[in-house]
Amino acid sequence: MKKGWRSWLPLMAMVMMFLHVNGEDPYRFYTWNVTYGDIYPLGVKQQGILINGQFPGPPIQNGVEQRRNSWQDGVYGTNCPIPPGKNFTYVLQVKDQIGSFHYFPSLAFHKAAGGFGSINIASRSVIPVPFPPPAGEFSILTGDWFKQNHSDLKAILDGGHDLPFPDGLLINGRGSNGYTFTVDQGKTYRFRISNVGLTTSVNFRIQGHKMMVVEVEGTHTVQNTYDSLDIHLGQSYSVLLTADQPAQDYYIVVSTRFTSQVLTATSTLRYSNSAGSVTGPPSWWTNN
Ligand SMILES: *[C@@H]1O[C@H](CO)[C@@H](O)[C@H](O)[C@H]1NC(C)=O
Ligand SMILES: *[C@@H]1O[C@H](CO)[C@@H](O)[C@H](O)[C@H]1NC(C)=O
Ligand SMILES: *[C@@H]1O[C@H](CO)[C@@H](O)[C@H](O)[C@H]1NC(C)=O
Repeated sequence: MKKGWRSWLPLMAMVMMFLHVNGEDPYRFYTWNVTYGDIYPLGVKQQGILINGQFPGPPIQNGVEQRRNSWQDGVYGTNCPIPPGKNFTYVLQVKDQIGSFHYFPSLAFHKAAGGFGSINIASRSVIPVPFPPPAGEFSILTGDWFKQNHSDLKAILDGGHDLPFPDGLLINGRGSNGYTFTVDQGKTYRFRISNVGLTTSVNFRIQGHKMMVVEVEGTHTVQNTYDSLDIHLGQSYSVLLTADQPAQDYYIVVSTRFTSQVLTATSTLRYSNSAGSVTGPPSWWTNN
């Protein structure tokens, strides 16, 4: 989201089409129907932004930094808002870019209603990637969430006040224990993690497991291993996780960072041959 992804989609469009360039199949087309609909991420009914009926929105496999081109960036001033019932076709070239990003609406505080999703740009098969192909990939969109709707939150900001403390954290549009990632024991997986929230940094950890950071927003990195990662607003990381622990369920944990009150949300890492589910509160920082 840095380097050009700051803000991408003017909403509310009813239909958007995307053209993306991929190494092998040079074109990708995406048609989106963007609507309001009922969502219940923290257990209360809210009006959220759905893309083709989904919250979060569908992943885009491929995307692009807007190099020397502001005309497809989605920022107010270079792109006009898309009125309800109308459509706009984004035409983007990815060229040499790779990596993990995300999209979100940039006007009217619509991001507080959803409309975000992952953008994953694959490497062409002829370009070496500095780690073996993972057995699978998962995208994790996490961040703070408010029960107040986007127009009420916008009114608070427009009134010159800070946003209230968020009501919870979401992982892929769900509150705690709403999502399960299933892995096979002994295999290595790529997790692409983005903080799609509005106000807080989060700490991300997968209990009992180490994470090797391999990519940050389009750049393959020096590969260091961590127990937990701080992911600030708008950041995206790729980590490799090897399912090398006893076959059971483990918590995937996000918690707010640098806040006096700490919010936490969990999802489940499940070994396909899991001998047991995970219970009780997640442990803090340490990975035991
Ligand atoms: C978009 O979805 C809405 C709600 O499901 C539907 O009423 C509408 O016809 C759809 N529009 C298009 C262009 O598919
Ligand atoms: C987009 O709008 C144009 C005219 O405004 C229309 O011809 C076209 O069918 C629309 N495309 C979609 C996918 O709705
Ligand atoms: C947001 O909620 C307020 C009530 O708190 C309501 O008046 C307003 O219409 C809602 N806005 C949207 C976009 O749903």
